[in-house]
Amino acid sequence: MSFVSELDEKTAAIERLLTTYLPKEQGWAKTVMEAMNYSVMAGGKRLRPMLMSETYKMFGGSQREIEPFMAAIEMIHTYSLVHDDLPAMDNDEYRRGRKTTHIVYGEAMAILAGDGLLNYAFETALKAFEFDGADLKRCSRALAILAQKAGIYGMIGGQTADIEAENLGADVTEEHLLFIHEHKTAALIQAAMMIGAVMGGADDAQIDIVERAAYDIGIAFQIQDDILDVTSTLETLGKPIGSDEKNNKTTYVTLKGIEAASAQQKEMSSHAIELIEGLGSGGIRNDFLSELIRSLITRIK
Ligand code: IPE
Ligand code: IPE
Ligand code: MG
Ligand code: MG
Ligand code: MG
Repeated sequence: MSFVSELDEKTAAIERLLTTYLPKEQGWAKTVMEAMNYSVMAGGKRLRPMLMSETYKMFGGSQREIEPFMAAIEMIHTYSLVHDDLPAMDNDEYRRGRKTTHIVYGEAMAILAGDGLLNYAFETALKAFEFDGADLKRCSRALAILAQKAGIYGMIGGQTADIEAENLGADVTEEHLLFIHEHKTAALIQAAMMIGAVMGGADDAQIDIVERAAYDIGIAFQIQDDILDVTSTLETLGKPIGSDEKNNKTTYVTLKGIEAASAQQKEMSSHAIELIEGLGSGGIRNDFLSELIRSLITRIK
């Protein structure tokens, strides 16, 4: 099967999985559930659950115990997008090819839907503990990674620094920008891959390598996101271009120009693939995962 058809199949399988874990829209709080489901089911690449399940398989994992974590990370990622698009943050009106949650449901409901997704992510992840024969030690370690990488030492920390760096212009150094990109974006990608590794039975040294590789993937991913914000179109991207300029953000493009940013992005992705393939000496490999990481270098959305 070609990489693209395999990718399509796996994406469709993740969509089906998400559907089974999302809340039923019912009762007096129905609107928040509708807004949660609207934002999650709007599409998206499903990159984080895919990286998680492929890393899990790379370490020999083959059970369904990974599924609650796959759904949970996509819920946390989606909540970060719902809040990122709010008027108080990036103030954007399109996401994943449709109107953003706050445009459709209003700001209050978008805030609550984000909160709802964050909390529901943990309610969902906890279901992994209930599987027959669940390895509780692995499950609790995975849960700790999810909590930490999504929080103030991870994504929320990065979003904080991102907002505070608006309008700083030339005062934002590369080190500062790397802090922002590492936390707002790489942290959830690290969580995805590290949880896959932990649940698949990786040892500490292997988890460490996965964390480093996911750092490179995450920074490269955000650099490409910064580039596409300048070079793409709303139709292709499913979200507005020019959002960074509108908000006076410093990005890899404003800091280094498109060409240097693009070169750095490619180099970091290649380094990540080397790290992951370096695990192969222990019989650990997943060609689809390598291909997936490679495909991000040239992604157009
Ligand atoms: C967008 O993430 C936010 C960033 C961290 C750059 P994605 O590009 O993975 O968004 P979806 O999930 O495909 O919509
Ligand atoms: C946000 O980065 C990363 C998040 C944690 C949501 P951006 O603000 O560049 O993401 P997009 O371009 O709106 O998807
Ligand atoms: Mg933002
Ligand atoms: Mg944004
Ligand atoms: Mg962006």
